[in-house]
Amino acid sequence: MAKILALKAREILDSRGLPTLEVELQLTDGACGRASVPSGKSTGSKEAVEWRDGDKTRFRGRGVLGAVQHVQGTIARAVQGCDFDSQEAFDRYLTNLDGTMDKHRLGANAILGCSMAFARAAAVSKKCSLVQSIASIYETEKLVFPVPMMNVINGGKHADSGVSTQEFMLIPHGADTISDAIRMGAETYQALRLLLESKGFRVAIGDEGGFAPQLKTTEGALELLVAAIEQAGYIPGAQISLGLDFAANDFYQDGHYLFEGHTWTSDEMTAYCLQLAQQFPIVSIEDGLSEYDWQGWETHTKALNENGIQCVGDDIFVTHANIFQRGIDQGIANAILIKLNQVGTVTETLETMRLARAHQYKTVVSHRSGETDDAFIADFALATAAGQMKAGAPARGERVAKYNQLLRLQETFPDAPLAAGVYQKASKKQ
Ligand code: PGA
Ligand code: ZN
Repeated sequence: MAKILALKAREILDSRGLPTLEVELQLTDGACGRASVPSGKSTGSKEAVEWRDGDKTRFRGRGVLGAVQHVQGTIARAVQGCDFDSQEAFDRYLTNLDGTMDKHRLGANAILGCSMAFARAAAVSKKCSLVQSIASIYETEKLVFPVPMMNVINGGKHADSGVSTQEFMLIPHGADTISDAIRMGAETYQALRLLLESKGFRVAIGDEGGFAPQLKTTEGALELLVAAIEQAGYIPGAQISLGLDFAANDFYQDGHYLFEGHTWTSDEMTAYCLQLAQQFPIVSIEDGLSEYDWQGWETHTKALNENGIQCVGDDIFVTHANIFQRGIDQGIANAILIKLNQVGTVTETLETMRLARAHQYKTVVSHRSGETDDAFIADFALATAAGQMKAGAPARGERVAKYNQLLRLQETFPDAPLAAGVYQKASKKQ
């Protein structure tokens, strides 16, 4: 492996107009990699900590010039001239250099930017694609395209639509190919727009490109989605199903769920999830409970399991292998959301995914609400055969960057199938 020649970083804007970090890494053999780092708004408490300057005269304190300095100073000085024979060796070196549990010293954004840029440069150096490079690290048996989970109605912290549920996702699992799945989702998104207009709703959008109509209830949004699927010419449940992310952390207070005017216990929140899944073609529920309610999650998981619904842990696991292991031991969730920036390196992300693979948990590779045009997660989801990828609406540049990259990859890997069987158990119920 070639040596590290140079590291460069810069402060750029994310999709919300907030600053984020971009990193370029150059090897002595001429190979280069560039990557930018996403950022979340509805975060888990145990996520790796991104560096923010706190200087109120710039970007209301959210600047990342300190992270730029860390990459070009501390990290560059330490790694320049070194050769790392693997992604793991590079990532471990960075995490040791930082030396903190949550990466706050150098910043998880500084570390992840370097880690992703290294992954890209290493692939160029090995003269293979990023997909092949990551697939060989992860020892992926067979490349599989992820079923896209497209967030088309935004609520919670991501929009002022008035609904407590954060994400309403279209899941076009009835498609034969990734391009068909993306087309089905995009057509339904357009049908939803027409439907909203015809009903007099505004078609303003939220952080992830989904619509943010003024609705009073989650049921109201789900009814609109079922109608939009039908109007687009598809069969709800058989061809396109629905997924929800409650992001329940955001409405959990003093042991209760303050949801759309209700004050519910954990069991009542779970009962509500089941009731919704009976009324609507829902195959996946993410963060139906809060990360502070582990006991509730045990019952919640059992209930969703019995009904064939995918139960996804996001804020509760924050892509950390040790927290996830505890969840596996306690029978919590049957799927895990995978966000590189929750843990802060490519290597640690793969470690968590290995655990999921070993314990038959499903995986969903995910974007953040604050995104850039970097489509790393599309390559990553294919390379790891993750099965599912959520990247927001099939609209807005930073969201379609990921879906469009999957379309390109379909040309490169025409034999890789779409992971349509992911919801087999769930969709049989319909
Ligand atoms: P975030 O939300 O990117 O704003 O944290 C995404 C999610 O909860 O899945
Ligand atoms: Zn989530």
